[in-house]
Amino acid sequence: MSTTDSPTFDGIFDTEVVGRWQAPGRVNLIGEHTDYNDGFVLPLAIDRATTITVGRRNDRLLRASSSFEPGVVHEASLDALDPATLDGWSAYVFGIAWALAKKLPEVTTSDDVAIDLSEAFGLDIFVDSDVPVGAGLSSSAAIECSVAVAMADLWNLDVTRPFLASVGQYSENHAVGAPTGIMDQSASLLGRADSAVFLDCRSLDAEVIDLGFAPASLELLVIDTRVEHAHATGGYVERRASCEKGAAALGVTSLRDLDVSDLERAESLLDDETYRRVRHVITENQRVLDTVRTLRESGPGAIGALLDASHVSMRDDFEISVPELDLAVSTAQSTGAVGARMTGGGFGGAAIALVPSDSRETVTAAVLEAFAAAGYREPTIFAVHAADGAHRLEG
Ligand code: GLA
Repeated sequence: MSTTDSPTFDGIFDTEVVGRWQAPGRVNLIGEHTDYNDGFVLPLAIDRATTITVGRRNDRLLRASSSFEPGVVHEASLDALDPATLDGWSAYVFGIAWALAKKLPEVTTSDDVAIDLSEAFGLDIFVDSDVPVGAGLSSSAAIECSVAVAMADLWNLDVTRPFLASVGQYSENHAVGAPTGIMDQSASLLGRADSAVFLDCRSLDAEVIDLGFAPASLELLVIDTRVEHAHATGGYVERRASCEKGAAALGVTSLRDLDVSDLERAESLLDDETYRRVRHVITENQRVLDTVRTLRESGPGAIGALLDASHVSMRDDFEISVPELDLAVSTAQSTGAVGARMTGGGFGGAAIALVPSDSRETVTAAVLEAFAAAGYREPTIFAVHAADGAHRLEG
């Protein structure tokens, strides 16, 4: 978060500011590791965001600096964008320009004009963010999406938000090198206050679903375990590969093509581990559909069992939880939460707990105490509210 002596745009760049854009992080209410299986997800954009301040340059250079790496200015040329040369967090910024250049040829405007970046001018970009890094709240998608909407506005690109989400995912996959799905960027771009985004990751049809937490006196707590994870390596990549293996063995393009009626056949054909990975994805897709229906028919107080079941499935079948996440979830559940689960890619990061407002203090105190008793690092616990997706700030 900014403080008065934090670095600012003016302290670093001498171009004139042409605007500020903001894009939120996200929490996934339910639907984990379903996005890259063409399945369903139900994330919400949260009131933690990246804000970028942008200046217009007269050349074709892109420069980026940030509050989290004070004084360092990264640089790239629009004429020589190469993902192999992008350093650290600057890949989240410059990777978007690179991915736009790659993907814009897929777009034609209504009067069939090709869009490209040949006329694009350079930018000075200052990045500030209050989305915690490494907590599984998509701090990287928040940077990508703030940059994507700013570039689309400033360079007059006639493109849709789902297209910008696909640009963000392409950049994350090929410039950053994490084989992630399209959920995080979609949530950051399509989110709405007090609502979740129900996304079909195959058709990319998105529907805004009213959450109704405040009228039901419920709050969504994030419990950041501060156990760090990375998705460019390790378990995330392996889980994705298991899903592909399972789909191939079952003769479908993706696990989305299966439902609970296929579980018996899957069990007879697959090895135990692959079967459990597949069972998670199949049942999780069903839980997303059930959560959307339950929210509509009975309100948020009735979705707790689905959140709890999702956690069990991730812990036992998909095996992406860690003891800190399990402790956060079980403590929240036993001290008043309506439901709780880990959120995001797993192997660390955060859990969410849906709690009655008057139990917030009790649950928070109980989780802090349980972590201290277990000798774990103190978690960071805070409430989040569903917020609007990426937008240009006034003034
Ligand atoms: C990470 C990825 C998403 C998604 C989740 C798991 O957040 O970036 O695309 O796969 O993990 O649901």
